[in-house]
Amino acid sequence: MLQIFRTKTTTPDDFEETGLKKCLSAFDLTFLGIGAIIGTGIFVLTGIAAATQAGPAVVLSFVVAGIACTFAALAYAELAAAVGGCGSAYGYSYAAFGELIAWIIGWDLILEYGVATAAVANGWAGYFTNALAAMGLGLPEALTKAPILGGIINLPAAGIVLVLMVLLMMGVRESARTNMVMVVIKLITIAVFVAVASSHVNPANWHPFMPFGWSGTSPEGKPVGVLAGAAMVFFAYVGFDAVSTAAEEAKNPQRDVPIGIIVSLIFCTAIYILVSGLLTGVVSYTELNVASPVAHSLQLLGIRWASALVATGVIAGLTTVMLVLYYGLTRVFFAMSRDGLLAKFFADVHPKTKTPVRVIGLCGVIIATIAGFIPLGELAELVNIGTLAAFVLVCLGVIALRISQPHLHRPFKNPLNPVFPLMGAVSCGALMAFLPPLTWIRFAVWLVLGLIVYFSYSMHHSKLAPGNAQGKRRHKRKG
Ligand code: ALA
Repeated sequence: MLQIFRTKTTTPDDFEETGLKKCLSAFDLTFLGIGAIIGTGIFVLTGIAAATQAGPAVVLSFVVAGIACTFAALAYAELAAAVGGCGSAYGYSYAAFGELIAWIIGWDLILEYGVATAAVANGWAGYFTNALAAMGLGLPEALTKAPILGGIINLPAAGIVLVLMVLLMMGVRESARTNMVMVVIKLITIAVFVAVASSHVNPANWHPFMPFGWSGTSPEGKPVGVLAGAAMVFFAYVGFDAVSTAAEEAKNPQRDVPIGIIVSLIFCTAIYILVSGLLTGVVSYTELNVASPVAHSLQLLGIRWASALVATGVIAGLTTVMLVLYYGLTRVFFAMSRDGLLAKFFADVHPKTKTPVRVIGLCGVIIATIAGFIPLGELAELVNIGTLAAFVLVCLGVIALRISQPHLHRPFKNPLNPVFPLMGAVSCGALMAFLPPLTWIRFAVWLVLGLIVYFSYSMHHSKLAPGNAQGKRRHKRKG
């Protein structure tokens, strides 16, 4: 049984010493990936990107982002099979580049998972608020929007994070079966949309196909066009790397993790192209800059039952994405505090609930605050820049490890090394270039903060320093 959310949460040392229950097949891992991947990106951001950045050509944005992710996924697959470990990119970069880069990646993953949870909470809140309004229980607008959008706080977004925080603290037990049920609900939701929308396409809505061109700048100075759209909808792909954090729970990780990563990514790319093509085919892209565009489009077509069904499915589907991302955050904390880079205080397990209540509580309060006060678009861009940076380093890590450890057993290999990993690093780096300058500044501030923490604390508390017993053990394991 998959224990994404274990009732008995292990201590950091347990992760390393006892390992997790090896119970996941390639099929389970693929479902885990689809569960973590399909969410706010396709159900919300597609509408924003179509309306403000790419027009109907948002479908091309998905193709471009999908290609960059495929190269990154191949790099993840090689490193997950050869290096393994639940720390994912943090662990791989430790093996490839050493501690400082590993720290930067880990710090980056904390940003990715933490802010992504807040972003998905915003997407969830959009659908939830609309569902409440449809039942005649609408909240005052000021309580559903961030200040920058004219509101006071996005209360549902902050609220759902706090609810999940309590659930995780209590020790929510999630099984592969439950995950599968939620994924099936999500897929049914998408199937309903595809079935209904495909009979209502009006090809006139696809003209003009590329109103913003490939690349340009809006009057407000924001990047627009298909490529800027790709940098935005990249968010829809965030999460396939979560498959690699389950490496220690896989029955045959060296074979199944690469399969899980690559198959879930290909599957989701196909779904995204289909859904975004239909969405811009049934209504004009100019109508899609709303909080729940997929349900909204069905409403505009007058098909209320389908709209309500889709909205309900999305609310359920986004909840699992948040849980997986939030849990992923605590897992990265574990890996880093296990290695001494973050204070052990954060990883202490509550004796009764057997969950790391401190880290869950601290993260929950911070994420809820972010979710309540910052709107989705800006959060998604911040997640994207952090994730893309991690992908660039993972791709370069493949090349570095091929040079430094040429004889390492590699059950899965990138074809044409170093061409594929290089193309991954270049395409992910290029997508970063299409993100707004403000996002770059925020990312730089986060990294500088990370370096201050590293040089003032982590470096001196690392358990992996050569000469230290634990350090030797870890290096031996990696090698
Ligand atoms: N890919 C996930 C989503 O779109 C994070 O919600």
